[in-house]
Amino acid sequence: MKTTRRGFVSTIALGTAASVLAGTSLTSKRARAQTRAQSKSGVYDNGIIQLNQNESARGPGPKTMSALHAHVNKRVGRGYSPDHVNELRAGIANYYDVETANVQLATGSTPLLQGSVRAFCSADKKFVTPMPTYSTSLGTARQIGAATEEQSLDSSLSVDLDALASAAPGAGLLYLCNPNNPTGTAHGPEAVERFVRRVMREAPGTMVHIDEAYINYARPGAIETALPLALEFENVFITRSFSKAHGLAGLRIGYALAQEQTLAKIRSAWGMGDVNMLGAIAALTALEDKEHIAWEAQENAEIRNMVVGTFREMGFEVGDSNTNHIFVNIRRPASEFRAACLEQKVLVGRDFPPLEQTHCRISLGSREEMEIAVEVFRKVLS
Ligand SMILES: Cc1ncc(COP(=O)(O)O)c(C=O)c1O
Repeated sequence: MKTTRRGFVSTIALGTAASVLAGTSLTSKRARAQTRAQSKSGVYDNGIIQLNQNESARGPGPKTMSALHAHVNKRVGRGYSPDHVNELRAGIANYYDVETANVQLATGSTPLLQGSVRAFCSADKKFVTPMPTYSTSLGTARQIGAATEEQSLDSSLSVDLDALASAAPGAGLLYLCNPNNPTGTAHGPEAVERFVRRVMREAPGTMVHIDEAYINYARPGAIETALPLALEFENVFITRSFSKAHGLAGLRIGYALAQEQTLAKIRSAWGMGDVNMLGAIAALTALEDKEHIAWEAQENAEIRNMVVGTFREMGFEVGDSNTNHIFVNIRRPASEFRAACLEQKVLVGRDFPPLEQTHCRISLGSREEMEIAVEVFRKVLS
């Protein structure tokens, strides 16, 4: 179906009033309208529509914002023994029905990515990663002089789990970003379990990191958390981030879930930072606000459909994304496309070698931002 600008605007009205908010209370409807008004003012943030970093364009939900306001007013002068950090750890444990010892907090999931490479890789224990994928771990491996192996994606731009498992014997750490950044592809629970069990059988000394930063944006039924595998095997851990669907990138909170001794190895290799009181109260509120996360996912999915539909209608290939970004075959260097979009005040993603001559990652902004952005994409690609 052709997605016109007018059609999209009417989808906003209909989708919002009917399906998205169906069943929510009047108060939360009002709060969401407020969030929408705030996100509208985010158009041209710093003069540019920023579609380059996979943050939530909508930020945290209304309950999280209220919790933040309440605590800013009361408690920021006190924070060396921050309230709510232990509560957050316990809240996460409770949410997943695990022990607090299975939860490692960090200032964003980044220190966990860095710490795990430092803990498990070295010159003779290689770090193995698909490419393109999120590259913080690879950057750390290079920084510490660890051996590295980069693997191509398969022909559908999915991570090749067989290839990854084949590289496991003798490796220090395998990295699996599920759903994958930048391609948005995801592996379902059977495929992940098969992969993990094969690695545990054939390479019992190798660690597996499953990065689930984007899991809340996945299509229904596409993915399940690998937490049961992380609890079963000492050599498996998962990481999560509050920077994506929970809208808290600026507050820097992430966590790992794994067996206690695995987490101890990661934190002894690298500092995890100090999660602060405001971050903790925000994360705890956001974690427990399931209604808002469902709304955020729905909002993102509708925007994703509109943008993907526009590219397909223009004849460009785009995979079915499970994230808040899309990876488009623009059939020209990403750098050219990026420069042309930036002239129109839209900033899209960086190069993702080895696909930087053909593909570009575009993070999904708010509806208002994407309405403007698709017109820019049409103009630049026409
Ligand atoms: C796959 C993936 N993992 C981890 C991160 C790091 O996020 P943070 O440190 O904000 O939790 C990102 C950020 O873009 C990401 O894309």
